[in-house]
Amino acid sequence: MRVLIIGATGLLGSALFEEWNGEPITGVGSRDVDIRDEAKLRDLHARCRPEWTVLAAAYTDVDGCEKDPGRAYEVNCTGAVKVARASREVGSRLLFLSTDYVFDGGKTTPYETDDTVNPNNVYGQSKADAERGIREVLPHCCILRTSWLFGAKGRCFPNTILEAAQRHKKLSVVADQMGSPTFNRDLARTIIKLVRADAQGILHASNAGKCSWFEFARHIVRAAGLADVEIEQIRTEDLPRPAQRPKYSVLSHTSLQRYGIHMRPWQETLDDYMSERLGMPHVRQHVAP
Ligand SMILES: NC(=O)c1ccc[n+]([C@@H]2O[C@H](COP(=O)([O-])OP(=O)(O)OC[C@H]3O[C@@H](n4cnc5c(N)ncnc54)[C@H](OP(=O)(O)O)[C@@H]3O)[C@@H](O)[C@H]2O)c1
Repeated sequence: MRVLIIGATGLLGSALFEEWNGEPITGVGSRDVDIRDEAKLRDLHARCRPEWTVLAAAYTDVDGCEKDPGRAYEVNCTGAVKVARASREVGSRLLFLSTDYVFDGGKTTPYETDDTVNPNNVYGQSKADAERGIREVLPHCCILRTSWLFGAKGRCFPNTILEAAQRHKKLSVVADQMGSPTFNRDLARTIIKLVRADAQGILHASNAGKCSWFEFARHIVRAAGLADVEIEQIRTEDLPRPAQRPKYSVLSHTSLQRYGIHMRPWQETLDDYMSERLGMPHVRQHVAP
């Protein structure tokens, strides 16, 4: 099975590229192909002839999307639909990464795949519109929503906390938003299983358990052995940001369990995250086609 990963230079895509063994994989970043360029996408698909395309590319800066909605829509929605059309042209299946931010956060129990989407920021809206647009092109695609992604390399909450902890002994972190952290390598392994199982429809995947950003930060500094760093709880209103975030965006795992997949609790991933951060043991390189 030939697989094409679009977004292979990102937090998830790079882990996916490194974790995927046994099948011929092509990974591309934005410098190889901009997903806003449909002709380039068609050319890429014609050259790679993938049987599966995994679309992990997106404009993921949530506040940046709020400030530049045009770019958010061109990349996250129109660009994603262009990938779906290019995939259809060569008969490739498609797995599209979506987000917990398609939900408004009004629930207090985990979001099911058929719960109503009602994003409260531009990023979430661009992904929700992409989900609809992609399904019109490829009704049997797989849409995988995930949340609070993190990994040793790249821009993510734990890396920001550990960098801030180098400079400050007291950090203020929001305690009234709940979600489920998701380690990029665990999600990568889940995606590989789903592709091999020929998954379709809307699915949710995150590490098990839930926490607030405050609790997540406390666990991170503890895992890093930074006993002298104090984490202070604040409310969302204390840290005004351009994009509104859902107060609760925990994803139900029922859809994943139907494929026999169980992701471990997020707390159990932190040792792997820390040892990769310190040792960086993974060496497989990203290869453009
Ligand atoms: N991060 C999270 O917390 C989170 C939560 C829920 C869902 N997700 C979703 O999960 C997926 C992976 O997220 P991530 O955190 O791994 O993203 P990321 O680290 O920000 O990486 C984004 C990837 O998209 C590529 N890209 C950006 N604009 C592009 C364009 N116009 N054309 C082609 N490629 C482009 C980047 O390429 P270059 O690096 O080469 O520019 C990079 O490979 C995304 O769909 C995201 O929406 C993420």
